[in-house]
Amino acid sequence: MIEELKKHLEAVEAFQADTAEALEAFRIEYLGKKGHLSTFFAALKDIPKEEKKEFGQTVNTLKNAANAKWEALKAELESRTATEARYGDLTRPGAPMPVGSRHPISLVRDQIISIFSGIGFTVSEGPEIEDDWHNFTALNLPEYHPARDMQDTFFIQTDPDILLRTHTSSVQVRYMEQHKPPIRTISPGRVYRNEAISARSHCFFHQVEGLYIDKGVSFADLKQTLQYFTKALFGKSRIRLRPSYFPFTEPSAEVDVYWGLETETDYKITKGTGWLEIMGCGMVDPNVLENCGIDSKEYSGFAFGMGIDRIALLLYQIPDIRLLSENDVRFLKQFKNAL
Ligand code: PHE
Repeated sequence: MIEELKKHLEAVEAFQADTAEALEAFRIEYLGKKGHLSTFFAALKDIPKEEKKEFGQTVNTLKNAANAKWEALKAELESRTATEARYGDLTRPGAPMPVGSRHPISLVRDQIISIFSGIGFTVSEGPEIEDDWHNFTALNLPEYHPARDMQDTFFIQTDPDILLRTHTSSVQVRYMEQHKPPIRTISPGRVYRNEAISARSHCFFHQVEGLYIDKGVSFADLKQTLQYFTKALFGKSRIRLRPSYFPFTEPSAEVDVYWGLETETDYKITKGTGWLEIMGCGMVDPNVLENCGIDSKEYSGFAFGMGIDRIALLLYQIPDIRLLSENDVRFLKQFKNAL
């Protein structure tokens, strides 16, 4: 009999209940009117005298253990029910967190930044709402200069001196005003032009412009830098520089990269020539250096500027520039694994 009691004691101590039903079954089994404890207490009177003491004590121990266990499990279940009512089942696996994707413009911008950082260029930024001086006048585009029409500008109506920057050359003016040469910096950022929105052009887009100023910087340095860049970004190192005009550079050039004519898409995007125009560049006009407080007799430099959106369209074969600003997740999530 005493052995049986000890087994019950072990069972009680090991008992665990996940549900209120299991706990109630335990209560009935041990503490109920017809439970084990009642049976043992009833048996007490038939136990031989010399064993009575030990038996009685053990039954008491079992009773205390069963009561304590029941109280403890009851409290635990109650607190779990309260937590669940408040927070739901905390043991359930979490809801999956959707993983976002980088925007193609960010992807391309970061690649360009990383290529130029690798050859010593810093990254500089400036305001999107600019004044006339930094966007135009300092860049050799005084008031009434006809070349101002090259970039259709959004003005703030109440103040003709304030506008939305049409290029990030404005950041380079700010940078030159604040830093002494040698200067090596690129300026990524959003720019605005008052153009009709179509599949090929938008009223805002993104640029990276670059500036290098030091003693003895030549056009050969410019060409070499651009060649290094196009090789790194597109894997193509054949470029050509076509004479062009920008008010802030002299001489100026348009940069074409040889894309190739292997696939039908190559024919389409290069209009059958194999060449793609990717940026403008030139030697910084001495007037611009002087406007920004840099001695043009001592220093020379080159500048270049490219549109990120167009390059993103090219690299990812996106057919319409408007897709870049529509924020359609079906479009954006395709860049989850893009580099
Ligand atoms: N700022 C010019 C543009 O936005 C690009 C450019 C930059 C051209 C630097 C030459 C030198 O079109």
